Amino acid sequence: MKKALFASLLAIVVSTPLTAATAFTDAKDAVTYRQAAFQLIRHNMADINEMIKGEVTYDAARVQKRADALVLVTTLPWEAFQVAGTEQGGGDAKADIWKNLDDFLQRGEKLAADATVLQAAAQSGDTSQVRRAFGNFARNCKACHDNYKQ
Ligand code: HEC
Repeated sequence: MKKALFASLLAIVVSTPLTAATAFTDAKDAVTYRQAAFQLIRHNMADINEMIKGEVTYDAARVQKRADALVLVTTLPWEAFQVAGTEQGGGDAKADIWKNLDDFLQRGEKLAADATVLQAAAQSGDTSQVRRAFGNFARNCKACHDNYKQ
């Protein structure tokens, strides 16, 4: 009985590929991953925007939480543009990205660097500093999308 169970478990283990596809090995998963990362960027950014505009009550701790998240999530999409075959993986990425990969990745690094500045502004608690840092951060989005997003 035990032997039979062991044999059937072994069969399952052996028939499962050792390396299942992940976003970092599969072109289509890479597209899903980077789009999910961009959605996290969008939501965290939009919440700060609504507080700055007064559509939602300004809450310094909440701005801090969003800025902290942005520091991390703005580092995530770029790796998923460098997975083999992902140019053909679908999504809204323009082919120009892979013709100008250095420029594209530099823009990604700039976004992440500006998120760090926004985080520092949030830590200072100075709302005019937060506004300025947020404006600089937000400019990166359209600039890159105009060139590289369909
Ligand atoms: C360095 C270039 C670059 C920067 C900077 C950038 N994006 Fe994007 N973004 C892209 C590309 C390319 C796509 C298309 C990705 C795909 O479909 O594979 C995209 C897609 C998106 C999407 C759609 C995701 C989906 O579900 O399909 C959102 C939302 C988005 N970006 C928000 C932002 C916001 C907000 C910022 C600024 C805070 C930003 N992006 C900054 C390049 C950039």
